[in-house]
Amino acid sequence: MKKKLVILTGAGMSAESGLRTFRDADGLWENYPVMDVASADGFARNPALVHKFYNDRRRQLIDALPNAGHIALADLERQFDVYVITQNVDDLHERAGSSHVLHLHGELMKVRAIDDPDLTFTLTPPDLSTTPSTLIDGHRVRPHIVFFQEAVPMIEPAIEIASEADVFVVIGTSLAVYPAASLLYYVRPSVPIFYIDPNPASVPEGVTVIREPATKGVATLRHILLSALDS
Ligand code: APR
Repeated sequence: MKKKLVILTGAGMSAESGLRTFRDADGLWENYPVMDVASADGFARNPALVHKFYNDRRRQLIDALPNAGHIALADLERQFDVYVITQNVDDLHERAGSSHVLHLHGELMKVRAIDDPDLTFTLTPPDLSTTPSTLIDGHRVRPHIVFFQEAVPMIEPAIEIASEADVFVVIGTSLAVYPAASLLYYVRPSVPIFYIDPNPASVPEGVTVIREPATKGVATLRHILLSALDS
């Protein structure tokens, strides 16, 4: 039986695809007041601004491509049962071919009905923009994004997956946002944990830090994991 390889990714995973991270110098939150464009209060105050922010993100995403890191993770499905838990709202893991992708913070290419949170719609080019008055099948919609101040409904299944990991890998996240960052603490004690990030946050003792960008770091990880399988 294949071992269960669980990967937690953050914005750094997609940095080399040209999508900006949030908290690095020149990150998204340097350029936009986060509580205006990504909070429940901000959306209530100025929904038009929030729609515009995510319309702009969508236009950038359709021009971006999965990088070698995304592709190598999808490739590891040949040797492992790979589960990706991502904080990213982009669809680059899916486009790279990963089969199991859980989005903790929502999905950029989707919007959902304001009067029915279970009803989502996937936007397709060229219709990537929404406004507060957009109607889809008769519903007003909002970005399918978990705003700050909102609950993170996917954390429960993510905890279950993390607690079943045989190997746990963290890639490209500052581990500054909860509950996502807490997933590390649900990994069983004897399970190896790797953390790929060129500028890693502090992590518990015992975590193997690979201080490299995602593209190079996933290649290093692959080498380590496949050597362990052979031995
Ligand atoms: N490869 C790997 N990691 C990188 C790269 C790269 N090429 N470039 C930058 N990084 C790392 C940074 O060193 C940093 O640790 O990516 C991390 C990005 O951190 P954040 O910008 O804080 O992004 P993230 O951790 O994903 O943010 C979590 O916060 O604003 C919210 O909802 C948003 O999902 C997001 C959450």
